[in-house]
Amino acid sequence: MSNKLALISGASSGIGEAFARQLAEQGIDLCITGRRKERLDSIAAELQQRYKISVDVIVADLAVDDGISKVETWIKAHPYITLLINNAGFGARGLFANKPSEKYMEMISVHVTAAMRLTSAVLPAMIQAKQGAIINVSSITAFLPLAGNAVYSGTKSFLNSFTQALSYELKNTGVKVQALVPGFTYSDFHKRPDYSKTNTYASVPKILWMTSEDVVKTSLRALEKNRLFCIPGFINKLIVLAGKSGLAALGSEVMTQIYMRSAKKAAGKII
Ligand SMILES: NC(=O)c1ccc[n+]([C@@H]2O[C@H](COP(=O)([O-])OP(=O)(O)OC[C@H]3O[C@@H](n4cnc5c(N)ncnc54)[C@H](OP(=O)(O)O)[C@@H]3O)[C@@H](O)[C@H]2O)c1
Repeated sequence: MSNKLALISGASSGIGEAFARQLAEQGIDLCITGRRKERLDSIAAELQQRYKISVDVIVADLAVDDGISKVETWIKAHPYITLLINNAGFGARGLFANKPSEKYMEMISVHVTAAMRLTSAVLPAMIQAKQGAIINVSSITAFLPLAGNAVYSGTKSFLNSFTQALSYELKNTGVKVQALVPGFTYSDFHKRPDYSKTNTYASVPKILWMTSEDVVKTSLRALEKNRLFCIPGFINKLIVLAGKSGLAALGSEVMTQIYMRSAKKAAGKII
């Protein structure tokens, strides 16, 4: 048994699973969460056997209060978490006016409320121990708000601001924070129902994609160097740079035109 313990939300696939695998390789005990019990159980069994670590599984839907409470209860019983990774998330592609607000409330719960509550639950013990780290998984869309992604971009912007403000509050406490800002990443994200009408893998040039494994390697290296924002990949860095400059409005405009045209084609109407 190691004396390090990482809690990873959304570890049943993609970036979260890659975090679980790379941290397990370092001998770090884990708690992994998600809704797909079979996948979590199988990842946990494999990692426990291969690396002789302990892996707890929490099956919880972070879109609802009960699910978040379940993870908070686990944290109360395991206060000395050394690393929290708020990674669980999903996209809800579509024009804002075309979706019921319930869908967006779920997204706000998973991306914002859960991340905020789990951070609040782990921080006191981290501060007391003068060590620990929190990684909040954001997205480059936080810097480049696009049509079809209004609430998604908004929730990811929250994570960036939240993480940055926390970094000021936590200065000299020994606790590190990181906003991980991935771009297009191979995972289950683009295989979910909202993306079934668009083949993102085919429509987005290969050069823009990274593997979950590379995203996670970059994040863990950046954490060692105490970097507040980790933007994996040269192209993603360029996109964020453009997002911060005057080019952002132009880029958003072009992307919006492309998106609106394809949305119109798919639905036969805009709203
Ligand atoms: N892939 C990309 O291109 C990309 C780009 C930028 C940022 N990101 C961000 O990266 C993070 C990880 O996504 P990914 O790309 O690795 O996609 P993924 O393979 O679909 O993984 C998403 C994880 O979040 C969990 N999750 C989703 N909704 C949940 C809910 N209601 N309750 C609990 N867990 C939930 C999923 O678990 P279950 O399905 O088992 O519940 C899964 O483990 C997300 O925050 C995403 O916004 C992804």
